[in-house]
Amino acid sequence: MTAGINAPGRARIPVRSLRTDRWWLPPLVTNLGLATFVIYATVRSFMGEWYWVNDYHYLTPFYSPCISESCVPGSSHFGAWIGELPGWIPMGFLALPFLLGFRLTCYYYRKAYYRSVWQSPTACAVAEPHAKYSGETKFPLILQNVHRYFFYVAGLVAVINTYDAIVAFHSPDGGFGMGLGNVILVINVVMLWAYTLSCHSCRHIAGGRLKHFSAHPIRYKLWTFVSKLNVRHMQLAWITLGTLMLTDLYVMLVASGAISDLRFV
Ligand code: FES
Repeated sequence: MTAGINAPGRARIPVRSLRTDRWWLPPLVTNLGLATFVIYATVRSFMGEWYWVNDYHYLTPFYSPCISESCVPGSSHFGAWIGELPGWIPMGFLALPFLLGFRLTCYYYRKAYYRSVWQSPTACAVAEPHAKYSGETKFPLILQNVHRYFFYVAGLVAVINTYDAIVAFHSPDGGFGMGLGNVILVINVVMLWAYTLSCHSCRHIAGGRLKHFSAHPIRYKLWTFVSKLNVRHMQLAWITLGTLMLTDLYVMLVASGAISDLRFV
């Protein structure tokens, strides 16, 4: 190799890094966290059952919106637009590709998986295994620029998830009801909004390309609000992976009859 760490002019260091701390730990933890979510979400998305609790109208976010005739009665809040789906197509197929695209192109996740999965570089002062580096200037990584468009769709899905959380305040006798599932669904949706609104594209939409904030007081207020969330974007990215899994797990356990929902009203 004549590029990367072997390029002319680079110091000849026989080991990968001279660092003596546990520099490998953060990428390892990141890999384990991402792998846990990917495996869980994949299994659940293709499972095709235990996603709807008819008594309480709990719908897992992994199956929302459910728009096919394969969806169990009651779970299609926006109607069944298409016929039966073959088993290899997840019932949440409408939103899942956009949500996946939103997360894959997210500025934080890019940093996370470039370092931990692609090892480019794994950590500061740790040699990367790749000989070439073209950043995000070439195909396919140049496609990361579509992130801003995924943001709009993710906003729409957050509205749908909010609707799902509202209609879940339902009692088996009809009318208002509330249980632990509602608390979990609402926490999940609040966290999803916080993650979505803390997006760097959202911050740019709110206050980008302005020459004078004083001439745009409303956009300045929005930008200030989004900026406060934006500094927590990494934490929100991880929290929402956790709340999504927790919400789905709870709905699955109640829907399958493994546990009963704790009812308050
Ligand atoms: Fe992470 Fe937009 S930068 S969601």
